[in-house]
Amino acid sequence: MTNSVMPTYGRLDVAFTKGKGAWLTDVDGKQYLDALSGIAVCNLGHAHPAVAEALAEQARTLIHTSNIYQIPLQTELADKLTKLSGMEQVFFCNSGAEANETAIKIARKYGHSKGIDKPVIIVMDGSFHGRTMATLTATGNPKVHAGFEPLVPGFVRVPYNDLDALKMAIGHWPEAVAVMLEPVQGEGGVKIPDADYLVGVRELCTQRQLLMMLDEVQTGIGRTGSLFAFQQVEDVLPDVMMLAKGLGNGMPIGACLASGLATDVLQPGNHGSTFGGNPLACRAALAVLDTIATEHVLDNVALLSTHIVDSFKQTLAGTEGVKSIRSAGFMFGIELTIPCAELVQQALGKGILINVTADKTIRLLPPLVINMDEANTMVSLVSELVIEFLDSKAVKSVA
Ligand SMILES: Cc1ncc(COP(=O)(O)O)c(C=O)c1O
Repeated sequence: MTNSVMPTYGRLDVAFTKGKGAWLTDVDGKQYLDALSGIAVCNLGHAHPAVAEALAEQARTLIHTSNIYQIPLQTELADKLTKLSGMEQVFFCNSGAEANETAIKIARKYGHSKGIDKPVIIVMDGSFHGRTMATLTATGNPKVHAGFEPLVPGFVRVPYNDLDALKMAIGHWPEAVAVMLEPVQGEGGVKIPDADYLVGVRELCTQRQLLMMLDEVQTGIGRTGSLFAFQQVEDVLPDVMMLAKGLGNGMPIGACLASGLATDVLQPGNHGSTFGGNPLACRAALAVLDTIATEHVLDNVALLSTHIVDSFKQTLAGTEGVKSIRSAGFMFGIELTIPCAELVQQALGKGILINVTADKTIRLLPPLVINMDEANTMVSLVSELVIEFLDSKAVKSVA
């Protein structure tokens, strides 16, 4: 069979036929512990009964109408998201990149409303915001830019987790209208900023009336231990928050939420999406939010997150080549001193799905619903993998 799919991904040689909870089964019947959740998407695990039931029932009832009509499920979801986050309005789309595009449009329109002809958005080194032209420009990874120049104008970049640099940039750019950042950089290598960073960003934005735009595409929907990562920081409410990934547990849905200065910036005719917020996607997201509450999913994250990090610290104690072990809720990063992309393939052999970001950081994003046994299995398989890998490298470098 020829493969006529565009070769945009470096795919692993494995295909899955079904999933249940934290486990996936491949075409040969082999089982894998999914410690990646489709990259922070299937936060409730695979084939969660509440989501599956809601989707099946909605598919039999009504999948799609159009945003030219009222969509009660969309209104219900928007009300729920604003109530849960403290934000005021929601625009629905289908992906993280689209949620971020919406934020970028809000920032530019907000700038124009203040008489700024060429608005500037301040973005971060090491960030990831998506693959559309504006979001890849906002992304702080030269590999993502390569071959797609000219990039979109109107972005300036500062180091992440550096309030002085941000302050200087804000002073330097009178056209600045917004600061766009992730509460924890996922693709950038599970980079967790200092405890006072988001508060500082909020303060600087408020002083200059800049929009604080938080990309919670990866951190949102419970991933870091609270429904939204910003909720762990006192006195921080963003003006714009972007969501996708875990919101539909695999059903594509994205959302851009606005509050304060960002409210009502987009008016009829300014933005739209054919599929965005259709009944099927909204029904899935409602089931996800409901399940997180009723099944006390955040309690599970709180219970197991520290246990997992402590266990890694124990099993990898004294292992040369392990630079740091860090976590924000269920976003785990094990940074090695050497590049380790090949571990992803090696992990398949051990029956576990992992990821490597920023060349040297093993990233684990297990479903938020794993139990203690699964958590322990993850720790022992990944620790084994790391120790064997580092041993093999040490042997080679000596030989
Ligand atoms: C923080 C962040 N923003 C945006 C995106 C892009 O989301 P999507 O692939 O749904 O467009 C990602 C995807 O990894 C992400 O991690």
